[in-house]
Amino acid sequence: LSEETEQMLSAYEWLTKLYHHLIKYQKDGKDGLEYLKSRGITKETLEEFQIGYAPNKRDFTATFLTQKGYSKPMLLKTGIVAGNDNNEVIDRFRGRVIFPIRNALGRTVGFGGRALDGDSGPKYLNSSEGELFQKSKLLYNFDLAKRHIRKENEAILMEGYMDVISAYQAGVKNVVATMGTALTETQAKLLNRYVDTVIVCFDGDSAGIEARYKAALLLRSVGCEVRLANLDAKEDPDSYIREHGGEAFKEKVLRTSDSYMSFFMRYQRRHFNLQLESERIEYIERVLKELSLIESALEREYYIQELHKEFDLSVETLMSQLAQYQKSLP
Ligand code: UTP
Ligand code: MN
Ligand code: MN
Ligand code: MN
Ligand code: MN
Repeated sequence: LSEETEQMLSAYEWLTKLYHHLIKYQKDGKDGLEYLKSRGITKETLEEFQIGYAPNKRDFTATFLTQKGYSKPMLLKTGIVAGNDNNEVIDRFRGRVIFPIRNALGRTVGFGGRALDGDSGPKYLNSSEGELFQKSKLLYNFDLAKRHIRKENEAILMEGYMDVISAYQAGVKNVVATMGTALTETQAKLLNRYVDTVIVCFDGDSAGIEARYKAALLLRSVGCEVRLANLDAKEDPDSYIREHGGEAFKEKVLRTSDSYMSFFMRYQRRHFNLQLESERIEYIERVLKELSLIESALEREYYIQELHKEFDLSVETLMSQLAQYQKSLP
């Protein structure tokens, strides 16, 4: 690592400690602590994830780091502070709960900062992108989850910081997050190096459903098996676990997650009106096309049976249509 990179890493190290200390012991961090308590975060979890609080001050962080000897250009490069028109550096994170984002080696390379409820501005703010913090190449919590992911030969992919933290706290430890919805190829490949199966457990809202489909395609394209968990429209893993507990999450969400093909059928149903004959046929064609790409004969047969039962079409007809699609494969 270059000396400059080391310096940036050490700035993150200092700040992680400072923010964490503030939330644990100081009046300045009390709002943050109350907030996390209200969301059911325990002391141990606070510790394990080194969660902190950046006070609502204009240049608290900038001043602290300057006193530690960091130069202005260096501070700007870390993505922790911002420059203003008067050539001053001001804090990027003000009055936010801080989630340190660590790379695979466990070193903090960025922060995610959550606004307290009722505050204005974006809900989450992350370190700005730069040499150190590249969201598209990181998975939140990968360093802690790694050994659990290996052991279970399975990774659970979520959207957000709190999803991962809640799951981890509830004893589901093979969890990582994209920090938003768009999974990247780099992230997918990283997971594929460690596991056969990835369970995608995104939020139940439409954004989460659309993102699931894209994530599933990407994961399959790099060679992962995927399963897809279902949550109600208003739920995400964190809210589910808060409401129903970790055991229910394992039994009712993870264990009942869909295979890719079941998910695909469920997903396509959203886009067709099956009351209409024309759309019903389109839907069946779409499913058969997708089925023609499935390697396992057993799996193909299984879903043919499902279509046969649901739409009262003969197995022979479905099979012959499927065979046509298979023939036209490149
Ligand atoms: P969500 O909108 O689902 O938020 O975004 P959340 O994780 O459920 O947040 P809580 O429970 O209200 O605290 C999922 C993830 O997308 C990223 C964050 O990593 C967030 O955890 N995100 C979201 C941002 O980076 N910026 C945003 O403004 C919103
Ligand atoms: Mn979401
Ligand atoms: Mn969410
Ligand atoms: Mn949430
Ligand atoms: Mn519920």
